[in-house]
Amino acid sequence: MEELRDNVTATPTSFVVVEYRGRAHELLLKHESLNPTGSIKDRTATGLLLDIDRLKPLVPGTVVIESTSGNLGLALARLVRQIDCHFIAVVDARTPQPTRDALTESGVELRSVDEPDGQGGYLLSRLRTVRELCLAHPGHRWPNQYHNRANPLIHERTTGPEIVRQGGPELDTVYVAVSTGGTLAGISAHLRAVAPGIRIVAVDSTGSLVTGGTGGRRLIAGLGASRASSFLTPASYDAAARVPPEATVAACRAFHEDTGIRLGGSSGSALYSYLGDLTRRTPPRRALCVCPDGGQKYLGTVYDDAWLDSTSLTAAVADVTRRLREDGLRFHVEV
Ligand SMILES: Cc1ncc(COP(=O)(O)O)c(C=O)c1O
Repeated sequence: MEELRDNVTATPTSFVVVEYRGRAHELLLKHESLNPTGSIKDRTATGLLLDIDRLKPLVPGTVVIESTSGNLGLALARLVRQIDCHFIAVVDARTPQPTRDALTESGVELRSVDEPDGQGGYLLSRLRTVRELCLAHPGHRWPNQYHNRANPLIHERTTGPEIVRQGGPELDTVYVAVSTGGTLAGISAHLRAVAPGIRIVAVDSTGSLVTGGTGGRRLIAGLGASRASSFLTPASYDAAARVPPEATVAACRAFHEDTGIRLGGSSGSALYSYLGDLTRRTPPRRALCVCPDGGQKYLGTVYDDAWLDSTSLTAAVADVTRRLREDGLRFHVEV
């Protein structure tokens, strides 16, 4: 497993000036899309595989199985191939076709779960399928990103320190999207220890149960979940923002219109939460949004008018966009 040890390298940040309500604000975006398979889950996959290998070596030919909405699957596929093991990805009806194609092309066996879980998603159905397959095949190894402490730990050791270093002493607020809650729990553990003054905002989706709330329709892949996080406690964050899909889409599209850069859905949600905080009595002076992935995978959803029509959100997105632009929103990326 030596080949996995050096797999995590620091991702860059870009500096953005955000004009809003007559003032200019400083924002850093941390681009996890620049990891080897395009998302922050390259870190998580490394931490998980090193952990299960430590418990019992992953000898060539071992079958690794995991429930994933896409990003962790792509990350595991790359690493599992490197160590000559076999990977079964349990995905669901919402996993985008380009992600399915990429998984299949890298030799992954796909199991697609199409039965909604009654909580606005498919997660509980996916987890049931993984458990059934593990019972039927006791040799299968399940990293279990929803429970394995190696998930938050890799972010405590890598993502957290990078944020502190890149944000500098002025950094006062950090926005982190949640699904398993592993990214946020790890970042928070590090920030609370070394920079307790930084305000941490959990960015969740409406209809998600990760930070409380009630289950319901969720449209943005990778953001939120049909269950509470095993890793987060109320002390892990200072505020939770539940972003509706129309706000996510409006933020992603406005950022793309101004900068030419397409962010992923959960990154747009973090951006929208940040904009909301600019109306607070004490707005962030220097904030950082973790951007878990880029916009390429969302060309058929967040950036697609036909998809928007099919979700009946076209008018709602137009409303949010008009409101943001009337408030003078403009993004400028400094190079
Ligand atoms: C698109 C996206 N959003 C948000 C997250 C945060 O997820 P988690 O809470 O599972 O660390 C991830 C993690 O990879 C992601 O891929």
